[in-house]
Amino acid sequence: MVDLNENKQRDQWGSKLGFIMAAAGSAVGLGNLWKFPYMAGSNGGGAFVLIYLALIVIVGFTLMAAEIVIGRHTQLNAIGAYRKIRKGWGWVGGLGVLAGFVILSYYSVVGGWVINYIIKAVTGAFNTSDMEVLGNMFGGMISGTWTPIFYHALFMIITLGIVIGGISGGIEKFSKILMPALFVMIIMIVIRSVTLPGAGEGISFFLKPDFSKIDFSVILAALGQVFFSLSLGMGCMITYGSYLSKDENIPQSATLIPLLDTGVALLAGLAILPAVFALGFDPAGGPGLVFITLPAVFAKMPMGGLFAVIFFVLVLFAAITSSISLLEVVVSFVVDEWKWSRAKATTIVAAAIFALGVPASLSMGIWDTIIFKDLVFFDALGFLSDQILLPLGGLMLCIFIGWVWGVDNAVKEATNGGKVKFTIAPVWGFVVKYVAPIAIAYIFISGLLA
Ligand code: PHE
Repeated sequence: MVDLNENKQRDQWGSKLGFIMAAAGSAVGLGNLWKFPYMAGSNGGGAFVLIYLALIVIVGFTLMAAEIVIGRHTQLNAIGAYRKIRKGWGWVGGLGVLAGFVILSYYSVVGGWVINYIIKAVTGAFNTSDMEVLGNMFGGMISGTWTPIFYHALFMIITLGIVIGGISGGIEKFSKILMPALFVMIIMIVIRSVTLPGAGEGISFFLKPDFSKIDFSVILAALGQVFFSLSLGMGCMITYGSYLSKDENIPQSATLIPLLDTGVALLAGLAILPAVFALGFDPAGGPGLVFITLPAVFAKMPMGGLFAVIFFVLVLFAAITSSISLLEVVVSFVVDEWKWSRAKATTIVAAAIFALGVPASLSMGIWDTIIFKDLVFFDALGFLSDQILLPLGGLMLCIFIGWVWGVDNAVKEATNGGKVKFTIAPVWGFVVKYVAPIAIAYIFISGLLA
């Protein structure tokens, strides 16, 4: 592709669908398939889901549009984008790049567990519904020394292999295959799950809110999940938006991406919780829900072996379309600002992230020292990203647009200078300026003090 403007050879999405698939691919990930069902399961089912949906509507859509606008306007990485609009604000993008680095280091460790579980599913290794056996199998695997590091390396290599191919030739190409495949697979599993005898109880647990279960910690958990699941607060959508052409419709994309992400999260809940109830397991299985409870569920259901393979491949696809976006945030910064070649940037950044993931993996086993509050290194990285960097990034994003750059300028970009319809622009501006930052600040600060 020959592109001789001043951003010489900056890659672009090949098509609108390509961008939507890649951005939805970033959003849909372990957050939807692994975290969302267990968080709903442990936080009162429908009550959690309801709060989550409310926050998606208020905060999710708003920040999604906000990030894409900044990226498309500046055509730069997260740090460069903030700095180009207003000197002295690059550090907000810097927090994002740091968050991307940190998240990917432990995300890749979990991605490695998923690869290991695909192999287990294929070889029929967990063909038992004895929770103790399955619990030991999972605990044994993640607390091992070399096995999880090996799979973590494999996951990083796959991620690197895609990102090195660039935007249209790497990330977009793979997202356009993996996302539709993911969609088909999850629908198959939902149909299997909700047609099991006794699934009704799980469906109503998931969809009927029990308001007595809503307390502050549920709201806090839901907010963190909104940021994480939509890939917001760390410049990921700034970065992806920066490869978007000037005539794409931002309000439309910013609506579609959260819809797809939320759709998949709800489908994941429907894929998992009804089966868990139907087969008599505990929905509050926590992080082990997908790795311990679900294999037990598969072992008990007709054709479960096949569905187990499909399920873990699905989780892997989702994880990869997210991990590539995390890596791209950092790579894009290094390529733009340090002028490294994409190949060099991708390889070195991926290696550094892999290195940070090694102690994270070991902290599940031989290095299980508590380093902060009651957290081991792996959990501390999660705390740093989900509870601090992402909400802080989201808060600063709102302040930046609402009070520094100005809502009018942002709306001008969002509407391609008035050419595209953005009917709710006044509401959007009000939420960016007041509602979202106050809500985020309130939840964020009370969470830190708790
Ligand atoms: N949204 C991804 C998921 O749900 C994780 C992610 C967070 C990706 C932040 C990019 C940026 O798994």
